[in-house]
Formats: sequence, structure tokens, C-alpha cells
Amino acid sequence: MTQPSPITNQPSVSPIPLMQMAAGFWVSKTLASAVELGLFPALADHPADKNTLATALGLKPRPAEVLLTACTALGLLDKTGDLYRNSPMTQAYLLPDKPHYFGGVVRFCDEREYVAWDRLPQALRTNRPITWDPDSHESPFADLEPEMIDLIWRGMHSLSASTAAVLATTCDFSPYRRILDVGGGSGAYLIELCKRHAHLTGTVYDLPPACEIAKQNIASASLDKTIATASGDFQRDAELPGGHDLILLSMILHDWDEATGRMLLRKCRDALPPGGAVMISELLVNPERTGPLDAALMGMNMLAETTGGRNYAEDEYLAWLKDAGFDEPEIIRFEAAGANGVVIGRRPV
Ligand SMILES: C[S@@+](CC[C@H](N)C(=O)[O-])C[C@H]1O[C@@H](n2cnc3c(N)ncnc32)[C@H](O)[C@@H]1O
Repeated sequence: MTQPSPITNQPSVSPIPLMQMAAGFWVSKTLASAVELGLFPALADHPADKNTLATALGLKPRPAEVLLTACTALGLLDKTGDLYRNSPMTQAYLLPDKPHYFGGVVRFCDEREYVAWDRLPQALRTNRPITWDPDSHESPFADLEPEMIDLIWRGMHSLSASTAAVLATTCDFSPYRRILDVGGGSGAYLIELCKRHAHLTGTVYDLPPACEIAKQNIASASLDKTIATASGDFQRDAELPGGHDLILLSMILHDWDEATGRMLLRKCRDALPPGGAVMISELLVNPERTGPLDAALMGMNMLAETTGGRNYAEDEYLAWLKDAGFDEPEIIRFEAAGANGVVIGRRPV
């Protein structure tokens, strides 16, 4: 127990973390503004001073000064003397022509989630999503305008490409030949996995608009002969496409309630041959339900975005897998922006 000082009545713990939490959006808005203004591409090839950058971005000296100071404090820029340059993280992930460009997720969080989170107490009180209306739409992925399709799948692609690159080097893919990526979205996972493991082929299975986007990304990566797409609906289709020995579920189960997740795992089991495996890639909550923070906050986002989803704990997935008839459960942990591990189950031989 922390006791207040008897003299000043000042608590012995600091409120600094509370200030950081209260103003957390200052960080996300600074990042989103810098991306929107094109600050980082302006520093792609050479360092520059404040006046040069202010002119390049069309800013007055005062806003340029505060933006550059904030971006440097956040580790987005490095400063030597009067010159600013992109930090190594910025140079790797915040230049639009880089393969793991993260600007899509910055825009997605800013343009879709930031406005929605303004009404988070409403989602907490009503247990209903904020970003769409479940009375008139079937899911957050149904009946979207073209701009929203672009925003969502570009955002997911930019989060998933770097996550899949970590998965590709952390897990042993040598036992598998053909992967079915259920709800595979933009194709980011299969593109990264097949680029790094030449023996793999696969199929992105998703709703028609996502398959169209995946097709374009697969063609841009020159992988059309390696990765196929299959339009479908895992809620309605009685069976998932067969002929695969590994099924990937990345950021799928957290979108849905437990009954849907369990139903999907049963469909995965039925679509796999004996010895085949299912791999769940998510930001997993720990068994104690105390974190980690990114998984816990992604769970809050699922409250804003879905009717029944949340980020589940690894022990919940292990129980669902067992009940669906999978055995040899395994958890492989890693650190990535979109997942902190995979939970694997195998269909008995
Ligand atoms: C959060 S995204 C994850 C995308 C991808 N797995 C990744 O990690 O980048 C969820 C995906 O599930 C797909 N999805 C949603 N409902 C679906 C359904 N009924 N049948 C097939 N795919 C569906 C969405 O279109 C979307 O691409």
C-alpha cells in the first residue's frame, strides 16, 4: 500500500503514467499528421534542416519546429546539429515505396479507429460495435464503399506483411507443402511465406472483394503461379477448400464470438488430411489475463469493431482446438506488430 506523505498529503506514486495514458492520442496523431504531410519521404535520401523541411512541407516555422521536435522525441527522426534524418525504423517502414510500408496501418488507425474510439464508452455500455451498424450489416467486412475497402485492406496488408515475415523465420514450415489462408485478406501472409520458403504454395480464401485485392498483390509479387485465390464465405460454405496440409487463421478468430471460432476450427479439421495442422496467429492474451498490452488493447479494438470478438487467451485456443479434435498442441511465441505467437494443433493421423 502506498501511503500519502503526512506533511504534504502528496501520494508517493507519480501520476506521470496517467498523463501518458490521458494524452496517448497525442502520439498517434503526431505520427498520422507526419505521414499525411509527407515528412518522412522528404527525408528519404538526405538529411535536412528545419527551414528546408518547412518549405518542402509548406509549413510555417512554428508548426515545423514543434512537429520536428515531437517526431525526434518519438524516435521517428534523429537529429545531429541542425540536421534531421529518418531514424532506421522510419526509413524501413514509413517510406511508401518500401515493401513493408506501415503507412497503411497508420492511416487505417487514424481514419477509421480514432473517430470510432471517441465513442468507446458507448461500445462498453451497449456491447455493440461502433464502426458499423449490426442492424443493417452482416459484419464489419460487408457492404463496404470502395474507399473503405482500400483503407481496411491496405491497413491490414501493411500490418500483416511485417508480421508474416517474422512468422516465416520463426516457425518450421518444412513439414508443409500447401497452405490455405482462411480469411487471408490482402494475401500478405502467403506472399511473405512463399517468398521465403520456395517449396510452399497456397490459396487465399476470403470474401470476393478481398480476393480481388489479394490477386493484385500476388501478381505484383510475381507469385501468380504459386498462390491461388478462392472466393468464399466461411460462415455460409459447408466446407473449406480441400487439398491443403496447413490452414492459417491470422487475425480471424478475434473478429468473432466463441461459437463462431469453434465452428471455424471444426471446418478446418474437416478440410485437413490426417496429420495436417491449423495455425492460429494472433496477439494472444496471457493465461493470467494481465496483458500483454498490445493484445489487451487489440481486444478493446475488437469491441469497437465486432459484435462478438475479442483477443482470446492462449489457453482458450488450446481448449477450442482440443474440442475440435486437434492434438499435439504447440505455442510458438515471437514478437511482431500483428501477432505475438501462433497456436498450432494437428489433426490426428
Ligand atoms: C482482420 S482481417 C485478417 C486478414 C488476414 N488474415 C491478415 O492477417 O492480414 C479478417 C479477414 O477475414 C475475412 N472474412 C471476414 N468474414 C469472412 C467470411 N465470412 N468468409 C471469408 N472471409 C471472411 C475478411 O474479408 C478479412 O480479410
